[in-house]
Amino acid sequence: MFSRFAAACTAFAFAASGGAAVAADAQRADFGTLPDGRKVEVITLSNSHGHSARVLSYGAILQALKVPDRKGKSEDVIEGYNDLAGYLAKPNYFGSTVGRYANRIGAGRFMLDGQAYTLAKNDGPNTLHGGMRGFDKQLWQVLDVSSGPVAHVTMSYVSPDGEEGYPGTLKVTVTYSLDEQGTLSIEYRATTDKATVVNLTGHSYFNLSGEGSGHGILNHLLTIPAQAYTPVDDTLIPTGEIRAVAGTPFDFRKPVSIGERLRDGSDRQMVLGRGYDHNWVIQKAPSTVPVLHARLTDPRSGRQMEVWSNQPGLQFYSGNFIDGTIVGKSGKVYRQSDALCLEPQVFPDTPNKPQFGSARLDPGKEYVHTLVYRFSTVR
Ligand code: GLA
Repeated sequence: MFSRFAAACTAFAFAASGGAAVAADAQRADFGTLPDGRKVEVITLSNSHGHSARVLSYGAILQALKVPDRKGKSEDVIEGYNDLAGYLAKPNYFGSTVGRYANRIGAGRFMLDGQAYTLAKNDGPNTLHGGMRGFDKQLWQVLDVSSGPVAHVTMSYVSPDGEEGYPGTLKVTVTYSLDEQGTLSIEYRATTDKATVVNLTGHSYFNLSGEGSGHGILNHLLTIPAQAYTPVDDTLIPTGEIRAVAGTPFDFRKPVSIGERLRDGSDRQMVLGRGYDHNWVIQKAPSTVPVLHARLTDPRSGRQMEVWSNQPGLQFYSGNFIDGTIVGKSGKVYRQSDALCLEPQVFPDTPNKPQFGSARLDPGKEYVHTLVYRFSTVR
């Protein structure tokens, strides 16, 4: 499975290297055994510039992502665990592939073609990230691993008709690709045999200073090129309103540090979200090519990340539920504001909000989400 986007990256990698042979490497290894005896693999993609990505076949989880700082020192910029036991005990969606429907569906139900569907509720009255056992808790099949100008791994999962209450057998693939420039792209594809709803994304918790640095993300500068966002109720379901960001703590059209307005209790939405946990309106509908969703800069390390996606919304979550009860990869306790999530997707609760567009997938059609993280450094 070698996508058009990956092919474009390959061409770019070649051009950027002056046509010289460049290669990124892909390696497979064991990562442990599930309680039912099935083996979990880890696939490591790496290039010669100090970038590497480790992907688990459990949950199609991005377990580690190493990126060089302005001095060339590579560090792991996402939270997670060193072993499978951590992901089984307190998953928190660290690095996960979330689905069948990322984010929330209000009251755990929706209508499609006049039929009501009832989902597993796992977040108060609502369904979050696919339900009790979402795609982040499934073992994926490794289909293809290869090195080359772009190293990649493709995994698949078949979600049975009725799983967690969703209609239709959904066949899903996810491909992680790393090129020589350090661009990591994730491509999600899905087909169904019955009309259903789909929303797949990546749920990495980023800290560009390094997850083990001991520095949080309050000084990271964030830019989100969005004029509006979707306010929520007290269970974090969008009210349906599309509200202008101008004059609010949600205005990230120019770079602003995350800490600057994180505790602004004068805005009711900041209280309801316990900080940032909202969807920004990037575009009205999915586009054919990825557009810029966010730019995150860490003045301390000089690392900068751009997030690109073809999806309409961006959930920015400032890690509000991470409460200091988790010890991460470097032995550091993870607390609020130690990392943040930037999750491109369709708007939360779209199946119940026609004004938000559509999350519908019909037989014979293919769902494609291309999510790209581009890394660079600033002085
Ligand atoms: C998403 C949600 C948050 C939270 C995290 C997982 O980002 O928007 O409210 O549930 O996932 O903890």
